[in-house]
Amino acid sequence: MFPQTASAHSPLPRTEDGNATLTIGEQSCELPIRRGTEGAPAIDITNLRSRTGYLSFDNGYANTASCESQITYIDGEKGILRYRGIPIEDFESRPNFIEVSWLLLFGRLPNREEYTAFSRELVAHADIDESMKNLFAGFPRTAPPMAILSAMINALSCFHQEFYELDDPSQFEKAAAQIISKVRTLAAFAFRRSNGLPYIYPDRRLPYVVNFLHMMFSNTYEQHLCHDAVADALSLFLILHADHEQNCSTSTVRMVGSSGANLFASCAAGVCALWGPLHGGANVAVIQMLEKMRDGSITPEEYVRLAKDKDSDVRLMGFGHRVYKTFDPRAKMLQRMCDRVLTTLGVTDPLLDLARKLEEIALTDSYFIDHNLYPNVDFYSGIILKAAGIPVNMFTVLFAMGRLPGWIAHWKEQNERPESRIARPHQLYTGNPKTPYVAAEGAR
Ligand code: SDX
Repeated sequence: MFPQTASAHSPLPRTEDGNATLTIGEQSCELPIRRGTEGAPAIDITNLRSRTGYLSFDNGYANTASCESQITYIDGEKGILRYRGIPIEDFESRPNFIEVSWLLLFGRLPNREEYTAFSRELVAHADIDESMKNLFAGFPRTAPPMAILSAMINALSCFHQEFYELDDPSQFEKAAAQIISKVRTLAAFAFRRSNGLPYIYPDRRLPYVVNFLHMMFSNTYEQHLCHDAVADALSLFLILHADHEQNCSTSTVRMVGSSGANLFASCAAGVCALWGPLHGGANVAVIQMLEKMRDGSITPEEYVRLAKDKDSDVRLMGFGHRVYKTFDPRAKMLQRMCDRVLTTLGVTDPLLDLARKLEEIALTDSYFIDHNLYPNVDFYSGIILKAAGIPVNMFTVLFAMGRLPGWIAHWKEQNERPESRIARPHQLYTGNPKTPYVAAEGAR
């Protein structure tokens, strides 16, 4: 377990606020009610089974608080998202992904010395061990970048076994900086490998995002020039993806970390969870959906009709959210960023016009209104990535790059909590009753 790091908040006093009474037949029991600083209170069922013999059942954990956390707060009804209490809108005018990463990791904004030291760590550790190039060479050129990223984050740990145990806070900060810095190199090298291009090494003189685009798009004879508007847009993209409380991939990182698995293994698992089309993979699915409309395969109106049809397995990708029942605030900010970037670059993208038309149709349709389905973070994000020249199959990799500080912060928060225990849910068994073994005729 971690000692409390100096800069970490000490756990806020938990207020217990009376009890809930659970009555089952003749049996009643009192269950404590816990309130956080914001958001829905919770009925503490820690002792439910030992006291009643019953389990709770909650498909997809839609009604379950899996932990206490001080990192991110979401109000799904009001469309609020705050990192360590700071509304994400406050980062829009001067997006600084390194500063926000430190904020998520350590609970407050860094002072000048802390920011400078963390930035230096990121600059110093962008390179990966030269022999990792042999690992890249082992992948087929058609290998999906998310498969490579997950594998290479685990492979990275083999070169940094000093980070398998992170009881020392300064070691934790070094490990966090290594992963956040090197993930760019791993992502860029995966892209270069799958396109048969020579690897472009990090350039220490370049800021975080510009260095990534340099490794992606420079050539051995010409440096990629990144427009400031694109750098700002990508920084904001990474900030808006940096954390989102107990989403599927973050809960995966916590679940894996709860067994004592190291930080790299836990983040590699998070990459796998994020890959799913219902989660981080949706940003790819949105572009594919819009491209079908652009190419005339289907009209927006027809697509919306299919998305409403229970007999079709079509969903309006980039719409809907488990928590937001109104606009995802990130979608609004990304839509504004789309406008800014495309206007500044003097380009138009028919996909943006189609996205707007789709949004307009859906938001005036009773099905989407009644189901509280609004654009989420993935609906506009791909258009920004396209404007930056990022290929579609790398979109979810960039989502992972953004989410890494959040995953690492949650892994740290869980490891710092003395009350943390290995995550091991129960089940409602609906299988066979006790059944005798009868070998098949002639089986032996
Ligand atoms: C991310 O958790 C996070 O915070 C995730 C994330 C993060 O930052 O980590 O915000 C990132 O994953 C954003 C979501 C990206 N995924 C998509 O855009 C895929 C499309 N959206 C959906 O598949 C869906 O809305 C989910 C997965 C996002 C949420 O699913 P839920 O909460 O389990 O909701 P559900 O599938 O039970 O749907 C509830 C109803 C159903 O209709 P009924 O059977 O009740 O009549 O809403 C319908 C669904 O059919 N519905 C949709 C829909 N989303 C839900 N119908 C059409 N199109 C959709 N997109």
